[in-house]
Amino acid sequence: MKKLRVILVGCGAISNAWFGAVKQRNDVELVGLVDLNREAADKRAAEHGLPGVQTGADLKAVIEKTRPDAVFDCTLPAAHVSVTTVALRHGCHVLGEKPLADTMPNARTMVAAAKKAGRIYAVMQNRRYMANIQALRRFLDSGEIGRITTVHCDFFIGAHFGGFRDHMKHVLLLDMAIHTFDQARYFMQEDAVTALAHEWNPPGSWYDHDASAVAVFEMTNKIVFCYRGSWCAEGLNTAWEAAWRIIGENGSVTWDGAHTFQAQVVTGRAGFVRERKDVEVPYDRTAGILEGHAGCIDEFIRCVQAGKIPQTVCTDNIKSLVMVHAAVESATGGRKVKCK
Ligand SMILES: NC(=O)c1ccc[n+]([C@@H]2O[C@H](COP(=O)([O-])OP(=O)(O)OC[C@H]3O[C@@H](n4cnc5c(N)ncnc54)[C@H](O)[C@@H]3O)[C@@H](O)[C@H]2O)c1
Repeated sequence: MKKLRVILVGCGAISNAWFGAVKQRNDVELVGLVDLNREAADKRAAEHGLPGVQTGADLKAVIEKTRPDAVFDCTLPAAHVSVTTVALRHGCHVLGEKPLADTMPNARTMVAAAKKAGRIYAVMQNRRYMANIQALRRFLDSGEIGRITTVHCDFFIGAHFGGFRDHMKHVLLLDMAIHTFDQARYFMQEDAVTALAHEWNPPGSWYDHDASAVAVFEMTNKIVFCYRGSWCAEGLNTAWEAAWRIIGENGSVTWDGAHTFQAQVVTGRAGFVRERKDVEVPYDRTAGILEGHAGCIDEFIRCVQAGKIPQTVCTDNIKSLVMVHAAVESATGGRKVKCK
């Protein structure tokens, strides 16, 4: 099969995760590296042994020189709309870093641009490709705990970034919760209908703005999703994938966000608290799947080659972004809002 010709835009911190994944593949050829700071692109070309690659600061010019099939967008959220629409207008498929866009109007512009171009625009939601997350999803799909009624999740990390995040408004919801909310949609296979959220900055916080939040979402199929999170919580940190309790009509499952699952289903039909038994959540840590960035890139490339649609395609991923912006709107306005 013909190698996919790709330009990577945005040669900052996260680009290393992309180079690492691409280097493992023989069906991708990096033909261009772009960064507003051209030295960053040249540096990455040298670091990753890509002497023949075209580098530059202007995406359009590098596209016209190299005629790529796809663009990988690793720029900052505010630049996603311009990078993606330029790439789509030049007939390229796009896989871009989360979040899909910095604002909902920009997100809608990008979704419309992908439709008009007839190209795939998909988003890097790397957590969907982790073996433990997929194991939980398979367990829920098995129907063991019955129909899901309620999902709780806790995300608590004392994260001292020391960069732009320390000064960013709605830092937890805008920069992190997209991962957690997308995980929730992935587990439930449902979308959010309403959001009621509250944000605050705890006393002693090293952030300028609210770094803690709670949010309650009413989801389709009458499921309630309760989120509690903070990037300003010292001690007893959860995993970055959060700690979860999912309640079904016939039982519950918990997952610590790492490698520990527990599940129980009811067996008795009478009594104040019904008889129950432990059930196993099948999970193979050594299954050897492509995880994280490598998994998402793999699905994208296979879909481009086969004319299929990846699961993180913008038309679906925008439904996770809607949750983020609805939570911000709710917290700001102090009222329940529709997720639309
Ligand atoms: N998926 C994940 O787990 C994960 C983790 C960290 C960051 N991210 C996301 O990755 C993206 C980049 O984050 P980062 O930490 O690498 O940031 P960064 O600041 O380290 O790098 C961004 C780079 O993009 C370049 N850039 C900005 N605008 C540009 C434009 N219009 N054209 C070309 N280059 C441009 C900058 O010069 C910089 O080199 C963000 O959207 C962030 O949310 C995702």
